[in-house]
This record gives sequence, C-alpha cells and structure tokens, in this order.
Amino acid sequence: MKTTAVILAAGQGTRMKSKLPKVLHKALGKPMVQWVIDCLSQAGVEDKIAVLGHGGDQVASVVEGQADIVYQTEQLGTGHAVMQAAPALPADNDCVLVICGDTPLLRAQTIQALIEKHQAEGNAVTLLTAYAENPTGYGRIVRQEQQITAIVEQKDADEQQKLIKEINTGTYCFDQKFLLQYLSALDTNNAQKEYYLTDLIKIANLHNLPVGGFVLADFNESLGVNNRIQLSQAEAILRQRKCEEIMLAGVTLIDPSATYIGADVVIGNDTIIYPNVVLEGKTVIGSDNVIGMNCRFVDSQIGNGNDIQSTVITESKVGNGCKIGPMAYLRPGTALADNVKIGDFVEVKKSQVGEGSKIPHLSYVGDSIVGSKVNIGCGTITCNYDGVHKYQTVIKDGAFIGSNTNLVAPVTVEENAFIGAGSTITKDVPDSALAVTRADLRVKENWRKK
Ligand code: UD1
Ligand code: CA
Repeated sequence: MKTTAVILAAGQGTRMKSKLPKVLHKALGKPMVQWVIDCLSQAGVEDKIAVLGHGGDQVASVVEGQADIVYQTEQLGTGHAVMQAAPALPADNDCVLVICGDTPLLRAQTIQALIEKHQAEGNAVTLLTAYAENPTGYGRIVRQEQQITAIVEQKDADEQQKLIKEINTGTYCFDQKFLLQYLSALDTNNAQKEYYLTDLIKIANLHNLPVGGFVLADFNESLGVNNRIQLSQAEAILRQRKCEEIMLAGVTLIDPSATYIGADVVIGNDTIIYPNVVLEGKTVIGSDNVIGMNCRFVDSQIGNGNDIQSTVITESKVGNGCKIGPMAYLRPGTALADNVKIGDFVEVKKSQVGEGSKIPHLSYVGDSIVGSKVNIGCGTITCNYDGVHKYQTVIKDGAFIGSNTNLVAPVTVEENAFIGAGSTITKDVPDSALAVTRADLRVKENWRKK
C-alpha cells in the first residue's frame, strides 16, 4: 500500500510565546518537526508533504530535501491545511497519513501498526487515539456501540462529551480516494470557524464508510506540544528513552536522571558516565572511556579508553588512552593523538597534539602543531595573536618546553630542543638546542636592612 504523509506545521504556536515557529523548538537537541520526519522515515513512509505557514521560510530550511513543501498562507484549520496538500498527493497513492508537526514522541512502531490496521480493515479513515487522564484541549472520540461516529473538539463539546477520556491524537490514515472526494465537504460551522479535518469522521459515518481506531497503550506518546511546559515534558521523556537505549547498548550511566545525551549521540560499550554530563550534537564516543562529572562535549569524536574529567570539548577529536582534565577546555579544531595528557586548566584551540605528549597544567595552546613525546611545562602559553592576525606555533617531536614559557608565534621549536623555564621565544629554536631568555639572577645581600 503506497503511503504519503502530510505533516501539518503551518500553525503559529501562539502559546509558545516565541519568535521561533513552534515546530522548530528543539527536544533533546532536535527540532520537533525533525522528530516527526525521522519517525516517518523509520516507519518506512518515504513520501512526505509538509504544510507550512507561520515562519514558513525558517521551517522550510529544516524540512527542505526531506519533504515536499506546500504553503498554507492563511491558517483556516487542519482541514484547510490538508486541502493545500491535496494537489501534491501522487495520483497512485493509496493511504494519506496525516500527522502534526508538534508530536515528537510518536514512535515508528506505532505509525507502522496504524498503517497496518488501516490496510487490514480497509477503512475510509483509521484514527490514532489514546486515553488521557486529563483530556482537556483535545478532540474527544465519540463512540456508539464501539463504533467511532465523530470527533468533537473541546470548544464544541457539551458537558457529557467533555467527560470522554478517549482523545484524538491528531494522527490518522485516510484512504486517498475518500479524502479527496470529501475534503471539499468540510465547512466552518463550529465554535472556532475553522475547517476541521476531524469532521471527516462524521462524513464517513454519514456515507456508511468504515472508520477504525487504533488505541495507543501509552498516552505520553501522543503528547502534542503547545506550550513550554509540554515541551519540557516531551524533553524529559525523550531524554529518558535515549538514556535507556544507551544503557541497553552497554554503557553505564551512574545517574541517568542527571545525564543529558542528545538525540544523535553514539556511545560504545563499557564506557562509564558520571552524573552531570552533557553530550550534544553529533558527538561520537568509543568504548571503555570514563567520562567524569561535569563534562560537556559538543560535536566531538572521542576514541577508546580515555579518562576525561570536568572538561568541555567542542568540535574536536580525541584519540585513545588520553587523560584529560579536570577543568580542561578543548576548543574547535583540536585533535589529540593517542595517550596524550591534557591536565587541569589547560585550553587548547585549533591545534594538533601528537602521541604521548603532555600539557599537564595551566597552559594555552592555540593554532599549534605539537609533535609526539613533547612536554609543555606548567604555565606555558602560545602568543598566537598580535591583535590583528593569528599565527602558528610548531613544536616538533621530543621537544621540552620549560615552565612558564611564552612562544611568540609564528615560531618553530625543532625536534628535541630544550627551552629553559621562564623564556620568551621569539625566534625558531634549532634541533636539540637549548634556548633560554632568562635574565641572570642578582642577589643583593642584606638589601632589606639598608
Ligand atoms: C487538533 C485536533 C484535535 C486533536 C489535537 C491533537 C482538529 C480540528 N483538531 O486540535 O482533535 O485532539 O489536534 O493535538 O484537527 N495546523 C495547520 N494549519 C492550520 C491549523 C493547524 O497547519 O490551519 C497545524 C498546526 O501547526 C499543528 C496541527 O495542525 O501542527 C494541529 O493544530 P492545533 O491548532 O494544535 O490543533 P488542536 O487545536 O490542538
Ligand atoms: Ca495541538
């Protein structure tokens, strides 16, 4: 059965009180509309049409290439939104799966089960419903002898109907022929003066066409995000799901409730993660690492067997067997080879550090190429910036940089060179040479007494 999804995402989302269109608000680091697109793709629904309106250009920049785009310039209701998508539906399509752009918790298995039920029963429309503890705000499912006869919106419901706890999740499968034949029969005779897509249930009943319902076991999955409280609820559920997925893949999370792992983060088995760790973006972490408390990694690749404590790493790469932190900061463009030591209060920016090299304490290394087996003493900094331009520092294999050295770039320290503590290096230092710029020590006896 050929299925095309129509994603409704034209609404303003007034209750978010935001400049950003509602469906672009992120849950677990991913825009809500992207969750919906990914869920559809996982369910095998490749053809998608997104209906955009408010902030359409912004939403289009995310959706482009993943769905065809149609615009609903005036938001006259969910029925009207689907009318805008109708001309874009492929002629040979069988099932139209309508889904809202603000339901990030729906699972692919649920969408598959809905489509399967729709196909098996040969319905004109099959609804995804759920039982809500507090159904306020949702459309209510009206049944007569189990048969669904209508959906009544909150604002149109009478006192009896308001007591119904079975709600419309806003996700449906329509038989395309039925949909295209009866969309034009929708009207705006209701409390909100809108074209309600949900009126198609009544219409199907009127024509004795079969209407089915698939009841969600877990109401949470259907959560529609209308305000920031619901956004935080969605975030919490997605975060828990991600942590559980990661733990089942063999990662120890000492306190999952205090661990933030973004939607796209990948972690290898036998890595142990301590509380208050935040892993974001396209971060990939290998196996057998210890990630201590208060680490934050963004868009970074971490190899295997590293020990990293209280460290921020952004857009950088770490090899294997490194010891980093506490309180280190690896900024974009940093690449550490294997067995590197980056100690406390060390900042590394846009630099390569070779195998087995050590920068153990209180240093700034920027725009540098550091070879292997280099030791950079405590308090050493690269002076990479003259106020206008940035310059490169090169420190070759086996060099020893004494404590509190200033390396004024551009400058090269050749292999096995040795720099005395407290030096300011402004010229290249040859292979195996000693360089010291220290002033001679003067001691004046009894100076204080005079
Ligand atoms: C809708 C359903 C309600 C259901 C609820 C589930 C109708 C009439 N009601 O109500 O039965 O319980 O969803 O969350 O369908 N949209 C457009 N264009 C429009 C109007 C809305 O694209 O003109 C989009 C919105 O961006 C949103 C979705 O459709 O993604 C749902 O719209 P919303 O206004 O949130 O509908 P509800 O009142 O929640
Ligand atoms: Ca809604």
